[in-house]
Amino acid sequence: MFLWGSATSSFQIEGNIKNDFTDYEQKLGYPPYEEGSNHWKMWKDDIDMIRQLNQNAYRFSIEWSRLQPEPNTVSLEALNRYDATVDRLLEKGIEPMITLHHFAHPYWFHDVSPWHTGDSVKRFLDYSDLIFSRLADRVKYWITFNEPVVWSLAAYADAKFPPALSDLNLTMKALFNMMKAHAGAYEILKSYNSESYVGIAKHFIIFKEAREWFYPDKSTARRIDNFFNFMLLDAFITNRITVNFPPLLKFDKPINLNNKIDFWGINYYYRLHTKFKLNLKNPFLLYAKDPATDTGWEIYPKGLKKIIKLVSRYNKEIIITENGIATGNDLVRKKFIKKHVKIVRKQLEKGYKIKGYFYWSLMDNYEWLHGKSKRFGLVEVDYENNYKRTIRPSGHYYAGLIEKFFHDR
Ligand code: NOJ
Repeated sequence: MFLWGSATSSFQIEGNIKNDFTDYEQKLGYPPYEEGSNHWKMWKDDIDMIRQLNQNAYRFSIEWSRLQPEPNTVSLEALNRYDATVDRLLEKGIEPMITLHHFAHPYWFHDVSPWHTGDSVKRFLDYSDLIFSRLADRVKYWITFNEPVVWSLAAYADAKFPPALSDLNLTMKALFNMMKAHAGAYEILKSYNSESYVGIAKHFIIFKEAREWFYPDKSTARRIDNFFNFMLLDAFITNRITVNFPPLLKFDKPINLNNKIDFWGINYYYRLHTKFKLNLKNPFLLYAKDPATDTGWEIYPKGLKKIIKLVSRYNKEIIITENGIATGNDLVRKKFIKKHVKIVRKQLEKGYKIKGYFYWSLMDNYEWLHGKSKRFGLVEVDYENNYKRTIRPSGHYYAGLIEKFFHDR
């Protein structure tokens, strides 16, 4: 059955969390988090709302800091809650898809076992095992890592996410360990349940040369595309993580991935124009040509078609694990959904192996560096009025598309 759903992540919606982001809130000047979207309290009604929106799947993440608030501990209360969440979803006919790592960590993680050290892998596998032992019997769809390249760049190169470092070599080490952790988690999960279906949610951006006549723009765009979009996909085939991006970065190391992935999750949002710059430290410029959303992104639905084609070459099934828009104009959101869903349906008809589409996001939430000002939700959250939920017209529209899709088949 095709999965039609929406996605969230624990830190962005749950509220009442102490993790590395709240720990770095002051230091990195993040906007106030407070209760997120108060989902930890409103979870039952939120799940009912997913059903009301005709969605048959829901992608959410487990908050590592809840499960292991201190090293070597387990919170049974948290585990029980995620267990109950899964049961409630299944009762309502909604297929759960669980993300294990969606940017956030327990506050202690970067001191005890940061990702650029080998200990991180073991820590992640311990955490994953706790979850699998409780949920692998009922949850089929798993995402080990959400946007590992985005995360490692933000945390280790751009100093925007904890641990806020700026070192490209450490960036690659961290990413390398994450992929090792992925392969380990894949094995453990399959030993619990061989039917599990495991992927990575990978962020894809269309990089377009700013000046078609200028070869350096073109080759820069291609290089960034190879690194940002496809390096990890290649690694699952070649068993090496390889980057050659002079003068910035060179990395090449064998890794035992052996095709251990069942699907590629595509997170797709926008296109960036790419300009070569004659500057050794900073050799390119990336920008949105026609910024049209509240996050300053270009709306470029055709890009989704292109990404589906390119990812298909890797012979894995595909799930659109995120696609969405931050806008104060819900009509624009409706149009956005219409165009992107149309592409998904067309590509499906053409025979591309797409298994699902998840809109980002089910509800308004905490958009990392931007806080609550950016509204991605199919459901509006009134932060000033007890987090009241109101389904937006675009949410109803998406519900109608889903109904029509199943009716047409
Ligand atoms: C990527 C991330 O997975 C998610 O956490 C974020 O909110 C959305 N895309 C929108 O930026």
